[in-house]
Amino acid sequence: MASPTPGSAALPLSADGVLKLAAQSMFDLFAQTAMGMMVVDREHRIVWISEGYKRFLPALGFERDSDFVGKRVQEVVPNTLMNQVIESGRPILVDLLTNKAGTFLVSRLPLRDDQGRVIGAVGLVLLDHPESTMQPLMVKFSRLQRELEDAQRQLAAQRRPKYTIAGFIGASAAALDVKRQARRVAGTDSTVLLLGDTGTGKELLAHAIHAASARAAAPFVTVNIAAVPETLLEAEFFGVAPGAYTGAERKGRDGKFKLADNGTIFLDEIGDMPLPLQAKLLRVLQEQEVEPLGSNRLHKIDVRVIAATSRDLTAMVAQGSFRADLYYRLHVLPIRLPRLADRLQDLEPLADALLDDIARRSGLPHKALAGDALDALAQHDWPGNIRELRNVLEQAALMTDDLLLHARHLSIVPAAAAPPAAAPRATTDAPPAAAPRAPATALPAAEPQATPDAPPTAEAFKPLPRAIAELEARAIREALAATGGNKLAAAKLLGISRATLYEKLGAAEDPSV
Ligand SMILES: Nc1ncnc2c1ncn2[C@@H]1O[C@H](COP(=O)(O)OP(=O)(O)O)[C@@H](O)[C@H]1O
Ligand SMILES: [Mg+2]
Repeated sequence: MASPTPGSAALPLSADGVLKLAAQSMFDLFAQTAMGMMVVDREHRIVWISEGYKRFLPALGFERDSDFVGKRVQEVVPNTLMNQVIESGRPILVDLLTNKAGTFLVSRLPLRDDQGRVIGAVGLVLLDHPESTMQPLMVKFSRLQRELEDAQRQLAAQRRPKYTIAGFIGASAAALDVKRQARRVAGTDSTVLLLGDTGTGKELLAHAIHAASARAAAPFVTVNIAAVPETLLEAEFFGVAPGAYTGAERKGRDGKFKLADNGTIFLDEIGDMPLPLQAKLLRVLQEQEVEPLGSNRLHKIDVRVIAATSRDLTAMVAQGSFRADLYYRLHVLPIRLPRLADRLQDLEPLADALLDDIARRSGLPHKALAGDALDALAQHDWPGNIRELRNVLEQAALMTDDLLLHARHLSIVPAAAAPPAAAPRATTDAPPAAAPRAPATALPAAEPQATPDAPPTAEAFKPLPRAIAELEARAIREALAATGGNKLAAAKLLGISRATLYEKLGAAEDPSV
């Protein structure tokens, strides 16, 4: 303890004296700062209450403190645990006490003599009305709790496959055949290869096969090979060992194969796989083992593979841009998805299901197709298949307040009017052989995700005013889709005024554009 300050006349104190003083000042401090304080003796009798405590007496049914002090605590303070603290000798540091006087945050400590024997207890009322004084804390706590539950629910929803085989809409012979094959392969654990043009529903079907398989409860993990830069693909697939790199990757990272363990991995656009990685992928498929980058340890995995491509893999094998051994490894159970143009009888149910989904996502009312709109849809040749159909319907639904969509709302070019450059298409089911993986700047011609409306060759031969108008319409549609139909927000995104947007929306509904 500090020695007396210079100039102080106080005599030096013994250690015992200091302790006694410390106990005394702490007692006084608590008595003053706590909302209330009481001391109870060995026999549970109240021997003293603080000034603050007196305020609770009326609520407990006492007018004068002399009626209260001297009583056994459990007789005058309902639900008290002071007697229990005295009997057990153990403190109750924080507790909520509720009785007819209200709810209190309390603390109860045993008092001991020199020999350590319990001689009583001290009770502190730290807070009254904790339900309001502690409210910010309680609100924060319950908000965090809610956020945690939301995040857990979202995670579960993301891991749950979004699709079922029945959700693959279509009753045409071609669609029924696809569903029959999908059900059959779902019952096996073999590799599945989904072939078909872009937008024909390969990804949807991959989800559905997983959901109908014995692995449904385990993860479904997608790698879109065309979307991952070539230099990052290996780490994406196989992961990175801790310490292999500095910086963000220092701690290492699991690859998609590891994340899909016990579940299904969906290798989308497998035709875009760079040749050197094809050999590594083949090894993984054969051995069911992955080796993270910078590690020399192999990790056993148990993963079912579903691969998809819109490219003609046999032609790529012939050209030498796809390994034959990998092709045969993947081509165990191929399913070929029909083009929309080859199952036009499914157009109406597909449009109906898509309009349903569009309404649900955008919060706009459900819109139906008028007869002339259906006729127009049936005349289009749908190079972008169901994805293109979805885009056309979404644009129409967002561009007009009408509940019935007419042909004039649909921004499609009738097949007959399409410029010749758009017309030639492979006559086989397979798309034309695409060039090997293009540099990141040049989008592969067979990749309408980026240009959903028409292949770039068609764009190139349009009269310029028309191309500009279509580009504008598409930008507006995408902005409206991004903002859920909110026109002010869409105008902001496009960097134009709301008035200009309305003007252009009017123009977009004009069939002459
Ligand atoms: N048979 C179908 N029934 C309902 N929606 C479909 C069907 N096929 C495709 N779609 C929808 O069309 C869009 C493109 O499908 P997707 O599976 O991504 O095609 P792909 O992978 O072949 O390019 C998605 O919005 C998908 O939900
Ligand atoms: Mg796809």
